[in-house]
Amino acid sequence: MKHDVADFGLVRKGKTRIEWASNQMPVLELIRKRFLKEKPLKGLRLSACLHVTCETANLVIALKAGGADVVLVASNPLSTQDDVAASLVRDFGIAVHAVKGEDRKRYYSHIYAALDHGPHITMDDGADLVTAIHKEPAKHKRNIFAGTEETTTGVIRLRSLEAQGRLMFPIVAVNDADTKHFFDNRYGTGQSTIDGIIRATNILLAGSTVVVCGYGWCGRGVAARAKGLGARVIVTEVDPLKALEAVMDGFQVMPMEEAARRGDVFVTVTGNTGVIRREHFLRMKDRAIVSNSGHFDVEIDTAGLRKMAVKVRPVRDSVQEFALPGGRRIYLLAEGRLVNLGAAEGHPAMVMDMSFANQALSAEWVAGEWKALEKKVYRVPADIDKEIARLKLKSMGVSIDGLSEVQKKYLSGWEAGT
Ligand code: ADE
Repeated sequence: MKHDVADFGLVRKGKTRIEWASNQMPVLELIRKRFLKEKPLKGLRLSACLHVTCETANLVIALKAGGADVVLVASNPLSTQDDVAASLVRDFGIAVHAVKGEDRKRYYSHIYAALDHGPHITMDDGADLVTAIHKEPAKHKRNIFAGTEETTTGVIRLRSLEAQGRLMFPIVAVNDADTKHFFDNRYGTGQSTIDGIIRATNILLAGSTVVVCGYGWCGRGVAARAKGLGARVIVTEVDPLKALEAVMDGFQVMPMEEAARRGDVFVTVTGNTGVIRREHFLRMKDRAIVSNSGHFDVEIDTAGLRKMAVKVRPVRDSVQEFALPGGRRIYLLAEGRLVNLGAAEGHPAMVMDMSFANQALSAEWVAGEWKALEKKVYRVPADIDKEIARLKLKSMGVSIDGLSEVQKKYLSGWEAGT
């Protein structure tokens, strides 16, 4: 089995961490047990390009239990947990190509290793795997009949391919399932981003001013958690609807130019490029902390910051100091890459349980349905989404009411009124 991981000395640590995460992933565990019996992915090669974490380990273990021949590669150069990668190879016989801190060349050599596997199904987080196929289809398209996509940024890229009529196979947008983005993007990103900032810097958030750039599901989560820890939160937005929502959620909303002056800590979660730029760095306070939790490292102009700096030096793990002319300093976390995965461990397993239940069940769904699917981006079927919510509630010991016959009739009729 081919693989590329950093250090087999980390195998034991990786295994115990994978088991620890498994304790918090009861829905995925149910799926794994059923997959083991039913083998819905038997005979299928599956290439997954995901953050290599203990939660992802539990997903690929479930996919293997379902009969899939899985290769796992990193979806970000900084997010790999090397102990997990080592354990997956040694303890679980899963081919992993991922090394924390890998450069672009090695990152793409891993993507090509995933494609050389000749997958029937692709599983992406950010669409780097699928876009690599679309850039060189003659080389890589071969056996693929469908894929799944984990994140907002990936879904946007795939919808762009679809709109241009260039999408080559159907993809399920796992991100768009309610049991994914309502929870993972909001509570997962909310907590793990704050976790990354605190682990990197050990700052006190109470009393500090945190600027959250972007008020999508992720931004809402980060803003709510920062507020919960006592920070004054400022939101910047380009969408009037989201900005209005932020105002009514009790946050100050203003243009970046103004927020740049006020913030102690900045977090970008827009999914867009060039959000914090030179003109903003020039306005920032001395010792401002700048971080990103959007999928790609394009939200903060790190190249611009480097050019402006008279000196750059690491000051802590995941923290670089940029000394600007005139004496001010800016601290950049996790090189401007996902701070929650670069400086912390990503979203907690409890929430990834639902995201990855969606992945596993979507893989099963496309394995059965692919012949009937068009070259489009599909939503996760609503019955899968609801079932995951039902199982998650059950695992948490929460029961809810059901509709009475009278209520069902009322909801399906139009006659009853004033
Ligand atoms: N994305 C965000 N958090 C993650 C995690 N813990 N595992 C895999 N992907 C993630």
